[in-house]
Amino acid sequence: MTPEQFLEIARVLPEPLLLVSSDGQLLATNQPVADMLGLRRQQLREKTLFEFVTESANDVVKYLQACSSSRAMVIGSLTLRKNDGQTLICRSQGAVIQPWSPESSALILLRLENRILASSNFVLLNEKIDELAKEVQRRKQAEEALWKANQELEIRVEQRTTVLQETLNELQLTQTQLIQAEKMSSLGQMVAGIAHEINNPVSFIHGNLHYAHKYTQDLIKLVQIYQHFFPNTPSEIQEYVEEIDLNFIIQDITKLFQSMKVGTERIQEVVQSLRNFSRLDEAELKQVNIHEGIDNTLMILEHRLQARHEYPEIKVIKKYSQLPNVTCYPGQLNQVFMNIIANAIDALEVSAVNGQWSKVNPQTNHNQTLTKNNPQIEIKTEVIDEKWITVSIVDNGLGINEQVHSKLFDPFFTTKPVGKGTGLGLSISYQIIAEKHNGQISCFSVPGKGAEFVIRIPVAHSDEI
Ligand SMILES: Nc1ncnc2c1ncn2[C@@H]1O[C@H](COP(=O)(O)OP(=O)(O)OP(=O)(O)O)[C@@H](O)[C@H]1O
Ligand SMILES: [Mg+2]
Repeated sequence: MTPEQFLEIARVLPEPLLLVSSDGQLLATNQPVADMLGLRRQQLREKTLFEFVTESANDVVKYLQACSSSRAMVIGSLTLRKNDGQTLICRSQGAVIQPWSPESSALILLRLENRILASSNFVLLNEKIDELAKEVQRRKQAEEALWKANQELEIRVEQRTTVLQETLNELQLTQTQLIQAEKMSSLGQMVAGIAHEINNPVSFIHGNLHYAHKYTQDLIKLVQIYQHFFPNTPSEIQEYVEEIDLNFIIQDITKLFQSMKVGTERIQEVVQSLRNFSRLDEAELKQVNIHEGIDNTLMILEHRLQARHEYPEIKVIKKYSQLPNVTCYPGQLNQVFMNIIANAIDALEVSAVNGQWSKVNPQTNHNQTLTKNNPQIEIKTEVIDEKWITVSIVDNGLGINEQVHSKLFDPFFTTKPVGKGTGLGLSISYQIIAEKHNGQISCFSVPGKGAEFVIRIPVAHSDEI
């Protein structure tokens, strides 16, 4: 850039600008410089910088050299001697600019700034920064307060939601218990009613069997005495004795009474089991034989275990260990066995319909011809230690997939068609085992292969100790 080019540009700029050589020669200045010094621009022509500043020539040259050897802008201070004799302290910013030819020496562009003005600008700027900082602070505080209030609100909403959720859960649980209790109590009442109705006639059949047997024996004896004293009976009697095969009757009648006795005893056992199952009277803790509860439950479900229509027989394999009597609510525990075994039967029935067990002869529909992978339920009891026992109920039905597994114990969760399942069986079982007996109930399953439910209960009940 030549001094003329510089002047072209500097003329329009409002700030004081000077173009000087590194030895202090004033090459060009603009009007604001002349104004600052109180001179006309012509008076600055062919002058040196030293003539207008109070600093020593040495200091000024040092500053200019610093400017010409640096690529960055160099800040300095120059005290101008004004035409009226006053001095003016200026901040100067110096930068070397490209010489117009390689031979020419470095040119330095100086920009002056009245120190007082600059510092008052600085003060103003500081004040502004202060104000801004305060404003920022205020906004930050407001934001923080807002955030806090928001947090508190969120916590309160969360607390309220938790309380509501808990209430909802409790209500659902109560509803569950009520429905299941109602279900079980009507089943219990029906079972107890049937047991009672059967019990009376069976009792007098069983009671009279003994006399019926004795009376027939007496009558047979009487016939035999007749035969002895009157061997030559009329032909009609002879024919009739042959027709009815009297000798066979005499031999068979004792067996007949014996089997009738066994039959009525069996009915009495069944009645006793039904009564035990309903255990309507036992809302209190009792020491019971767990196996009896399981057997009674199996008996109630017996009709579902036998082969029917498209369903094959379900084999029950019992692997009972020597168990101590367990203190529990027997009616409730039976309810758990009932729910789990009924679920196993449901699963096995679905598997049977789906053809999980291939038939040996696909032409026949005989359930007996199934392969050895017959539908089965295994019930195993074990003593873990002197305090705990387990009951495990395993089926080889369709099993339980991940999705179902995670909701298994949720109230009203069911995969069964409407009208078949209420989805309460396992949730109530969980409640009975976990809450009423301080035990645990868990489920393991390999989808497609079956499911296992393990109940772990303490031998002694905490309410009893
Ligand atoms: N042994 C099992 N094999 C496969 N699925 C099972 C088994 N036991 C339970 N389930 C699944 O768990 C679901 C929930 O069982 P739960 O006993 O709680 O209800 P439900 O049997 O459907 O109805 P409810 O017992 O009230 O009649 C069942 O619908 C079924 O999908
Ligand atoms: Mg069920």
